[in-house]
Amino acid sequence: QTADWLARIAAADSPSDVEALRVEALGKSGAITAQLKTLGKMSPEERQTTGAALNRMRQEVQAALTSRKEALEAAELDRKLTEEAVDVSLPVDHGRTGSVHPVSQVMDELAEIFADLGFAVATGPEIEDDWHNFTALNIPEHHPARTMHDTFWFPKEEGEDAPKLLRTHTSPVQIRTMTDGEPPIRIIAPGRVYRSDSDATHTPMFHQVEGLVIDRGIHMGHLKWTLETFVKAFFETDDVELRLRPSYFPFTEPSAEVDVRCSFAGGKLTITSDGDDWMEILGSGMVNRRVIEMCGLDPSVWQGFAFGVGIDRLAMLKYGMTDLRQFFEGDLRWSGHYGFSP
Ligand code: PHE
Repeated sequence: QTADWLARIAAADSPSDVEALRVEALGKSGAITAQLKTLGKMSPEERQTTGAALNRMRQEVQAALTSRKEALEAAELDRKLTEEAVDVSLPVDHGRTGSVHPVSQVMDELAEIFADLGFAVATGPEIEDDWHNFTALNIPEHHPARTMHDTFWFPKEEGEDAPKLLRTHTSPVQIRTMTDGEPPIRIIAPGRVYRSDSDATHTPMFHQVEGLVIDRGIHMGHLKWTLETFVKAFFETDDVELRLRPSYFPFTEPSAEVDVRCSFAGGKLTITSDGDDWMEILGSGMVNRRVIEMCGLDPSVWQGFAFGVGIDRLAMLKYGMTDLRQFFEGDLRWSGHYGFSP
């Protein structure tokens, strides 16, 4: 009898089979339990022999059940461990991650380059007032420069002298920096600007970085050195030649547009002093003394220079994009093509 049970237990091949056998043998109405119940009706002598035998059987069957159950559970765990093992040497699917936009990338590069020259980063509001965007920059009402800026105006609100506008350049940050702080000043101000204009090289929103230095004894030599140092660092070459072309901005006097010597050999733009072309990259000049005055500073003490660069344009020159509009369409194939996607 014991042998029968042990054989059946040994043949059980899952923990639930073992459990079924336990119920069948030792459960409330199990076979062995039933046999044990008959002990009460036996004579003392009979009980002594049969009882001892039955108890031994119960213990043996119980022990066999336990060890079979443990063995089966251990085997099951082993099987799971092998089957569900993770191969950490397999290549990982990273899915899609984000990447930096070329405009942000160039802004970061500029901030870093100018930080090395002691420039802090300043900001101003994109919704500007007439005074900061125009008047304080020596562009009074009816000045032709106002119409050249293709300004987006807000509706005039009650109690306002002049309606608000979307800033047309980052130059109002010059004004805010001079009126809010004390010279000496060395800042750059990157940010969005807006003009009602759109074609392959113009978008209604684009990016500029303004530069402003105000200190004692500042002259054009400082401006030229600063710009040269910046262009060399940005285009990662010492082979740079700049040309300052006389120009006009109401807020700088004298004013200069700055070109960099380049070559278009093979349809590819290269910044090089060997080139036979020039590429305009920015507007600049010595801060007009009238602007310094309007900001409440004494122009016989404080002089300075300023410059304004198109960030998107710089990105196009450095990374080879041809259509400005695509900067703002969010097409990942475009950024990937120019090396800005993972
Ligand atoms: N604000 C001018 C523009 O948007 C650029 C500029 C800035 C020129 C500073 C001179 C000095 O065209």
